[in-house]
Amino acid sequence: MAEVIVLDTETAAGTLAAASIRALIMRKPDAVLGLATGSTPLSVYAALAASLAEEPLDMSRVRGFALDEYVGLPAGHPESYRAVITRDVVVPLGLDPANIRTPNGDVATLETAGLDYEAAIVAAGGVDVQILGIGQTGHVGFNEPGSSFASVTRIKTLTEKTRIDNARFFASPDDVPIHCMTQGLGTIRRARHLILLAFGEEKADAIASAVEGPVSSSKPGSVIQLHPHVTVLVDEAAASRL
Ligand code: GLP
Repeated sequence: MAEVIVLDTETAAGTLAAASIRALIMRKPDAVLGLATGSTPLSVYAALAASLAEEPLDMSRVRGFALDEYVGLPAGHPESYRAVITRDVVVPLGLDPANIRTPNGDVATLETAGLDYEAAIVAAGGVDVQILGIGQTGHVGFNEPGSSFASVTRIKTLTEKTRIDNARFFASPDDVPIHCMTQGLGTIRRARHLILLAFGEEKADAIASAVEGPVSSSKPGSVIQLHPHVTVLVDEAAASRL
């Protein structure tokens, strides 16, 4: 059963999540973080960076695995999730880039990239805390409706809705890649703690189906109901259909 906490602001939610991550790193200096992209988790990274500025912590051994990556973007593209994670997470938190992995979205290695990524997560001892956003289609990572709850890191095709939602990061909607490499719902389920964040009315349906709806692969977010340790941090608007 997920613990659902409704907060007044994104900042308050980010502060709460950051405190939990900070406590984890104090207990386990080589903690493994599951890193999400999108706008939602930015408040978490910002709050953690602010807390580290106030009271530094050795972050040199912290490890991280990104949830997903676009397939086929040119190396170094500013909207590749590797670049986004570097900009929004690695630099502000003072992480060692060598300790952070993103799925390989290089077209040449698609067949092996997924299993290589799974093996790397296992070798790291698994993800301690997985930060998650949720898409309006209910997707987590890039696991769109229909994704198996047992799925592992693999190539997926983005829905038109998700491509439109993500077009704001690209010069034109046509520039949004069609394919991605994403951790599976099975991969996400193996993380020891899930922190799912969502803000705004447009996420209310996705949150309602994730938290209270039938457990169904047509609502990938409902995977959280199969997990023993989940924290859901939402604002009033995102909680409005609970
Ligand atoms: C993106 C990411 C997801 C993210 C979701 C919501 O496409 N792949 O990991 O949770 O969509 O994004 P946002 O937080 O910007 O609303």
